[in-house]
Amino acid sequence: MKQILCCHNVMVDFAGFKALQGVDLAIESNEVRFLIGPNGAGKTTILDVICGKTKATEGKVLFHDEVNLCKMPEHKIVEQGIARKFQNPSIFSQLSVFENLELSIKQKRNLSSVLFARMTAETNDEINRVLEQIGLLQCREQQAGSLSHGQKQWLEIGMQLMQKPSLLLLDEPIAGMTGSEREKTGELMHEISATCSVLVVEHDMDFVRRFSKRVTVMHEGRVLCEGTMADVQENEKVQQVYLGRREKAC
Ligand SMILES: Nc1ncnc2c1ncn2[C@@H]1O[C@H](COP(=O)(O)OP(=O)(O)OP(=O)(O)O)[C@@H](O)[C@H]1O
Ligand SMILES: [Mg+2]
Repeated sequence: MKQILCCHNVMVDFAGFKALQGVDLAIESNEVRFLIGPNGAGKTTILDVICGKTKATEGKVLFHDEVNLCKMPEHKIVEQGIARKFQNPSIFSQLSVFENLELSIKQKRNLSSVLFARMTAETNDEINRVLEQIGLLQCREQQAGSLSHGQKQWLEIGMQLMQKPSLLLLDEPIAGMTGSEREKTGELMHEISATCSVLVVEHDMDFVRRFSKRVTVMHEGRVLCEGTMADVQENEKVQQVYLGRREKAC
């Protein structure tokens, strides 16, 4: 399998606090990779480094083996095909579901200085395709603010998909969702992986067990281990720092 992203010895220092202490992480094309670990392990920080929100103090993040993302501003990283869904809602509540998706194309076009967007049949089809993928085709004309929490999360994922990314970064996407919304989200992530790798931070171990193939465990700013959920569950260090402790607490 071809690697799409490779982090080499990534370090982040927040005014003396070493949030990342040499992260090595490789993501393959079309994979859904789960990133787990206790609070403060550095999971969100590594996503921030990949999308350029936080700059690494040392190390490299190579996209498609050659482009070093560490040197790039955030908008250039978006243009490379990396999409990040943040935890806080960023949809336009007053606009329809359709308009939210339409707007996310226009933003991309402005960004890359292409001709001003005009609604074409092709664009319309593209929006409908994404609406179908995220399960919101029936809600096309509905005001985004009136969607359920889970539907809003899917709309945000859809807004990222409009930019045709090749890597999608998700930070705790199922937080606050109902059981059936979680299930749909897990299935959606795997569907998305047909065209785009997905790197997802998650705390819900039942969800990770259900939908993961490969899992990376972080602890204190480093990768502790990697493998299938069964592999990492057997790892003694993981049991000590995370799974054992969390599962006992549950
Ligand atoms: N801007 C910042 N300035 C200083 N310290 C920060 C900053 N952002 C994060 N940190 C610290 O870096 C460490 C890693 O944070 P991070 O948010 O990446 O953890 P996480 O693994 O995502 O945790 P959680 O599971 O709670 O979301 C934490 O100790 C956090 O307090
Ligand atoms: Mg976090």
